[in-house]
Amino acid sequence: MKEKLELLKQNATSDINNVSDEQSLLRLKSTYLGKDSQIMQVMKSMKDLTIEEKKEIGKLANEVKSFIENLVKEKMNEISSKKENKRIFDNTLPVGDEIGSLSPITIVANEVAEVLKKMGFMIVSGPEMEKEYYNFEALNIPKNHPARDMQDTYWTNLGDVLRTHTSPVQARSMETYGAPIRMAAPGRCFRNEDIDACHENTFFQIEGMVIDKEVSISNLIYVMKNILKEIYKKDIEVRLRPGFFPFVEPGFELDIKCLICGGKGCPTCKNSGWLELCPCGMIHPEVLRMGNINPDEYSGFAFGIGLTRMAMMKYKINDIRMLNSGEIRHLKQFKVK
Ligand code: PHE
Repeated sequence: MKEKLELLKQNATSDINNVSDEQSLLRLKSTYLGKDSQIMQVMKSMKDLTIEEKKEIGKLANEVKSFIENLVKEKMNEISSKKENKRIFDNTLPVGDEIGSLSPITIVANEVAEVLKKMGFMIVSGPEMEKEYYNFEALNIPKNHPARDMQDTYWTNLGDVLRTHTSPVQARSMETYGAPIRMAAPGRCFRNEDIDACHENTFFQIEGMVIDKEVSISNLIYVMKNILKEIYKKDIEVRLRPGFFPFVEPGFELDIKCLICGGKGCPTCKNSGWLELCPCGMIHPEVLRMGNINPDEYSGFAFGIGLTRMAMMKYKINDIRMLNSGEIRHLKQFKVK
């Protein structure tokens, strides 16, 4: 019996030392210490021994048992500390002294927001996943209206939309704050676009809205020109064309002379020399009414500046795809000092 226990000890030691994963260790634990293990059988058969033998073998059996238990415990610690070590990153590696930077879009968004704040606008935000009502109905675009086709929309299974523009924040702000109001709302928008040098499915706009007594188109033009002048630090050539948006009447497209080619024509401006930068217009009376504002008392204007495009112009980025690429070499160029 003594030899049996000795052998058991040796076998357990070499088996346990040889495993390196938790599963195999647990298997060995049950082989060497479980109910049907040899050590348990030795213990069970003690009743047939003499008192002298019981003393000797019993002591030995207990020693072997706790020896094996210890081995298992130590091995378990070893395995789990190896696992831990794998997770801990090597903090002796050099980290470098690089600091992060803001994306060109964030920089431009902040700049426009600052200019607007100086003109008395408050900065608000709205949800990126929007209710159909605010993205469309509240902006005078009822279900089945052909204008919905202008904005190829991502719908969720629950019938919400990834907002196709920041204009829903107009409707939300009318409800929340009423009139008079000057607000601006920068944010991310989504459309199911075919992607090329100047179209992306994810882009940024900043919405602006002014509602007050006797607001006119000349106020709108002044505000637009002022923003552009402050952002580009020079007078920018603009042109105003009629534009159709169901939530403004009259509606305009404000174009700026392409700053990449200087108006000669390039892929970014689709060879026209002009870049659509800012659709705008006088808020449609129906939209005011839906926002609980009396159109006989108040009027207003709204604009949606394409921030993505503005950043491209400002930093002479000739391909919109760079902006969402997460490519560090591009972003590095815009490091804020
Ligand atoms: N929301 C419109 C768009 O993205 C732009 C717009 C905003 C037009 C405000 C008029 C007034 O196409």
